Amino acid sequence: MDHIAAHNQSSKVAMPPTKLGNTTPNTLHQRMSEIVPNRLSDIRIIRTKYGKGNLGNVTVDMAYGGMRGIVGLIWEVSLLDPEKGITLRTHSLPELLPRLPRGRRGSEPMPEGMLWLLLTGEVPTKEEALGLSAELAKRGVVEPWIEDVLDQCPKTLHPMTQLSYAVNACQHSSKFAKAYASGVPKDTYWQYYFEDCLDLIAKLPLIAARIYRNVTRAEGAPPVGRGLSVDVSLDWSGNFARMMGFESDEFDDMLRLFLTIHCDHEGGNVSAHTCHVVSSALADPYLSFAACMNGLAGPLHGLANQECLLFIVKMREELGDNASNDQVEAYVRAIIKSGQVIPGYGHAVLRKTDPRYTCQKEWAEMHLPDDPLLKLVGQLFEVVPRVLAEGGKVKNPWPNVDAASGVLLNHYGLKETNYYTVLFGVSRALGVLSGTLWARICGLPIERPKSLTSEEVVRLFGPEVSPKM
Ligand SMILES: CC(C)(COP(=O)(O)OP(=O)(O)OC[C@H]1O[C@@H](n2cnc3c(N)ncnc32)[C@H](O)[C@@H]1OP(=O)(O)O)[C@@H](O)C(=O)NCCC(=O)NCCS
Repeated sequence: MDHIAAHNQSSKVAMPPTKLGNTTPNTLHQRMSEIVPNRLSDIRIIRTKYGKGNLGNVTVDMAYGGMRGIVGLIWEVSLLDPEKGITLRTHSLPELLPRLPRGRRGSEPMPEGMLWLLLTGEVPTKEEALGLSAELAKRGVVEPWIEDVLDQCPKTLHPMTQLSYAVNACQHSSKFAKAYASGVPKDTYWQYYFEDCLDLIAKLPLIAARIYRNVTRAEGAPPVGRGLSVDVSLDWSGNFARMMGFESDEFDDMLRLFLTIHCDHEGGNVSAHTCHVVSSALADPYLSFAACMNGLAGPLHGLANQECLLFIVKMREELGDNASNDQVEAYVRAIIKSGQVIPGYGHAVLRKTDPRYTCQKEWAEMHLPDDPLLKLVGQLFEVVPRVLAEGGKVKNPWPNVDAASGVLLNHYGLKETNYYTVLFGVSRALGVLSGTLWARICGLPIERPKSLTSEEVVRLFGPEVSPKM
């Protein structure tokens, strides 16, 4: 995009002054304010030059088939290539992970660095990431009545339902909703959106940790109550771990890795797309993200990591610790024959092993080589792709992100599988809120694809079939 960069030198657009009342400007906000005008200028040029470019034909099968293969969205922060895997702002995960800054503690990247990258397109310096960490810690406050509402939830209410409930409730403090109602100019929307996104990301560890503590409390024990708060000396992930009640440095590092790699996966998956479409109606980030979490809670999407560990644990119960690959294969075949899927395998877009699986497996091999569940993860990798590939029905027989994550969490004592999707959701906030904020920066309009009825399909293509409905 050199021509675009050159054009930028002569076409800087002055940003409107921030009108955010008492909010202290932060370094990320400053950097965004510098980047946004240039990027908007790039996009104007892209649209002028390529606006009439054809992105492909849409067939009736695609419309019935979950819109697979239809390109109809702009998602600035990440891209999924079926063969090359995920790129986050043009960086592949294996290339990016060593480059992201580490914090004052631990050896894994800080998720704050990933957030900076997704929002700005730039790998931050350690100082920038630490500054963002401090900014998030300062913003990490939840209104006490929301804490009380969470404490009132029955222990048996699914943690994802509680998360969605609490995020919706936080909408009470939306700066964007307030600014919109007061009639601020359109080109300043993103600034209020930015504020809400950062506030929401900062609140999530508090909310999610409270949910964890409440759902895991002993029978008859009281809920968390007042007093759970962010420690400003810890990073975002460290705070989350500590508030959940985990103390070990190794757990902290595992969680940093988990939260960093689960953040984003292009814009068309259920959770990202839901956030995008809800936000396109100018619903604020809280409403948009709560909707996104409801999508993530579906068993074919984010709930798969819970299903995956349960699958491996059950297989171990049935086959024991010394199962041969032949026994694992017979087990897998029986599951498929009974009409169930093998959790952790397959993908709607990827056509190779998910790099997020690979880096978690490598972590596990380094830190928990003797875990019996890890041995089964390895055996499944040897068996499942070959079995799924038979018959050619499954488009991607390779493991996805969920095939190894549960084993890591379980190893460190986080054994409540119905909580796993909450961890995924906290990480996903970094990606979906970044992508959605960029949609607001670009001023993308309300989303409204056209739908058809089956009768209309027949009318369009021929009278020989007459649906009886
Ligand atoms: C991820 C997933 C939902 C993608 O779905 P998709 O895009 O429709 O996948 P495909 O086009 O390859 O599906 C074609 C067929 O293969 C089957 N298939 C796909 N993955 C399978 C798996 N892991 N085990 C068994 N069968 C599988 C599908 O159920 C479908 O069968 P059908 O035609 O009888 O309905 C699917 O692979 C799946 O259910 N995987 C297991 C759950 C999981 O790990 N989800 C997390 C995703 S990150």
